[in-house]
Amino acid sequence: MAEETFGRYLVAVIGAGPAGLFASRLLAINDVHVVLLNRDIIPGGLAEYGIYFDKYKMKEGLRKQFQQILDLPAIDYFGNVIVGDNGDFRLSDLRALGFQALLVTVGAQGTKWLGLPGENLVGVYHAKDLVFHYNLLPPFSTKDFRIGKRVALIGAGNVMLDIAHWLIHELMVDEVISVVRRGPNEVKFSKEELKTVVHNLDLAKLFSEIERARLIANAVGQNVDEAKDYILSALPKGLPAVSKTRFYFDFLASPSRIVGNEQGYVNGLEIEDTTLECVEGEVQARRLGTKRILDVDTVIFCIGDKVDESFGLPVRHNAFVKNPNPLHPVDGLSFEAYDPDLNRPVDRVFVAGWSREASSGLVGIARKDGENGARAVLEYLQSAPGLMNPTSILDEFTAKMDKLNKPIIHKSDLQKLIEAQVKEAEKSGLPAYKFPTNDEMLVVMGLKKPVIG
Ligand SMILES: Cc1cc2nc3c(=O)[nH]c(=O)nc-3n(C[C@H](O)[C@H](O)[C@H](O)COP(=O)(O)OP(=O)(O)OC[C@H]3O[C@@H](n4cnc5c(N)ncnc54)[C@H](O)[C@@H]3O)c2cc1C
Ligand SMILES: NC(=O)c1ccc[n+]([C@@H]2O[C@H](COP(=O)([O-])OP(=O)(O)OC[C@H]3O[C@@H](n4cnc5c(N)ncnc54)[C@H](OP(=O)(O)O)[C@@H]3O)[C@@H](O)[C@H]2O)c1
Repeated sequence: MAEETFGRYLVAVIGAGPAGLFASRLLAINDVHVVLLNRDIIPGGLAEYGIYFDKYKMKEGLRKQFQQILDLPAIDYFGNVIVGDNGDFRLSDLRALGFQALLVTVGAQGTKWLGLPGENLVGVYHAKDLVFHYNLLPPFSTKDFRIGKRVALIGAGNVMLDIAHWLIHELMVDEVISVVRRGPNEVKFSKEELKTVVHNLDLAKLFSEIERARLIANAVGQNVDEAKDYILSALPKGLPAVSKTRFYFDFLASPSRIVGNEQGYVNGLEIEDTTLECVEGEVQARRLGTKRILDVDTVIFCIGDKVDESFGLPVRHNAFVKNPNPLHPVDGLSFEAYDPDLNRPVDRVFVAGWSREASSGLVGIARKDGENGARAVLEYLQSAPGLMNPTSILDEFTAKMDKLNKPIIHKSDLQKLIEAQVKEAEKSGLPAYKFPTNDEMLVVMGLKKPVIG
């Protein structure tokens, strides 16, 4: 490692999604040497493994920006490294090594379970796992998912639409039902995303659902005609239907149980009718006790994600706890991890992106949040104890990585992987190509011998 690449400070950024990458950039151009650690071989996080796979232009544009960041000499990239209480390094290990600050940008890797009977049946999935599957993130890429013909999607956000898109365009299932606990005025998806599936929407069913919700919505001051107009406005620019899949919304319905057959497979979803009520200015769903069964064989929760509780930071309400009285606020927000039991900030640890606010916002928002997290770190560093010997810290860290006995991905390895992917895409005439397993990636990077035979 060349001495001249060292800035005045040494910081570990954990997680190379949009938040971590853009944070690393801002740190690196402000006299910080950044060690960027990433669970996946390929950087990019959900920009690589979340954004729908056919958004080739958007993904390529982001990859180029990420590459420019990784080209900065003040950033060292180490892929295939897991940080956390069950990982390769705990936060305390990194602190003990002498990193002056740790910026956690690992996204929201936990799964929100609702605790419903039947959640363990075959055919019940969480959107994140399927999104990772169709975007070819190992090991999800090669996992077997049993998707049937009639699929209930819980939720009405953009992730629900991505999953609907996949079911309707790729798997061409018979029926996709979006089960929405509140009314038509509370759908969270964008018109832009609805365009991908709007021509599969059963309009007669939409109109009858809108009428069913009319009086309930009126009672909380909402006009369902506005919601109807919003949904229908996606029609003129909608993509042509490529399958006969029937797509519809079931509003004012909350899942209460997943029904299974004797073999342990899903064969229904019990939903409970809800009504709307205003609680402290917010429209909420209240369960009514009346239930009915939807005839489905697959249930997919598209209800957002939470942070990973095993990571090693205190968690409350699905999120890492932040210092309520931050010492280095940015835009009035706290980026400082906090221990509510000890009533003090977690030493030198900052959070940003979906690790600061789970499942919220687009790539641009994660970028801004990462950069603001970096600003908080930069401010903290002004008063942090000086750095004694950065080369020896990095040498010790590298020696510890060697002892992990697993391939660690460096920038030069990534370059080989990118070249191999481009070659594969050209060979097969595809707009993009990804190797679906870590082994295949390691082979083309020369970090593993190919298996002959
Ligand atoms: C299905 C889906 C589709 C989306 N589509 C769009 C879209 O079309 N347009 C748009 O603008 N936004 C989209 N978004 C939102 C966007 O992807 C997010 O806003 C953004 O990626 C969040 O960035 P992040 O860096 O905070 O987290 P992430 O992107 O989740 O990145 C987290 C990184 O941390 C790493 N990591 C995780 N755990 C560990 C660990 N223990 N140790 C080390 N590293 C770890 C991961 O490998 C990953 O690289 C989508 C989101 C989803 C879920
Ligand atoms: N193409 C894109 O631009 C794109 C694609 C994917 C994701 N994203 C972004 O990524 C972020 C996350 O998206 P998301 O769709 O996961 O989250 P989201 O927008 O928050 O939607 C989650 C949905 O799940 C419902 N839900 C939550 N908890 C529930 C429960 N216990 N029971 C029943 N329903 C429940 C919510 O209903 P309530 O409203 O009642 O809570 C809501 O309809 C968003 O900012 C989104 O815009 C963007």
